Amino acid sequence: MNESNYWKNKWSDRPLEPANNFAKRAYELIKTRSYKSLLDLGCGDGRDSIYFSNKGIKVTALDFSESGINKLKNQNSKIDCIFEDIKNINLGENSFDVIYAHLSLHYFDDETTGKIFDNLFRILRKGGLIFIKCKSVDDVLCGQGEKVGENMWKKGYTRHFFTKEYMTENLKKFKIIKVRKTSSIYHEYKSAFIEAVATK
Ligand SMILES: C[S@@+](CC[C@H](N)C(=O)[O-])C[C@H]1O[C@@H](n2cnc3c(N)ncnc32)[C@H](O)[C@@H]1O
Repeated sequence: MNESNYWKNKWSDRPLEPANNFAKRAYELIKTRSYKSLLDLGCGDGRDSIYFSNKGIKVTALDFSESGINKLKNQNSKIDCIFEDIKNINLGENSFDVIYAHLSLHYFDDETTGKIFDNLFRILRKGGLIFIKCKSVDDVLCGQGEKVGENMWKKGYTRHFFTKEYMTENLKKFKIIKVRKTSSIYHEYKSAFIEAVATK
């Protein structure tokens, strides 16, 4: 099964869950500035897109999962939905005040990850904010399944587990505000993450 097939129908029969705490914490910073537009990368069924939209932000939600994008379209007509692969995003330069990526940038090899982060730098408006959360090498799933690269493991689908250094290296074009390790229960597992906030 390729990676997009794994996600294709994933969101159809799941109830919509409340917004992630990462989105709520991001909003605490977003609301202190006069930001109007936000790109939710790998939005899934849009639990965080809907949260930001309800706060009055113009949200564009992007995912390559048909079930996620269709479910979101049926629930909220104010959000612009884009059915696209993160690797192929072709949005305008300086076009978003905020880019938000919750668990959607830890699927790619080093070269692709570097290209994606550079493209996000191009898309973010000067003075804008980017929020990224990825699984970390301390996560219980790191080391499980088939090893497919440095810190990359395939179990169902491929995950690229981040270190603080790897996040920092990929954000080299941005001005980093914070990169930190966190842990919390995610889908019943105690999970470990790297979270980053940066500006352009
Ligand atoms: C763990 S889910 C997170 C969904 C959502 N951000 C949330 O927190 O509820 C990862 C999402 O990333 C999407 N995704 C993974 N690889 C992608 C790619 N190459 N292009 C677009 N979306 C991708 C999947 O379809 C899935 O919806």
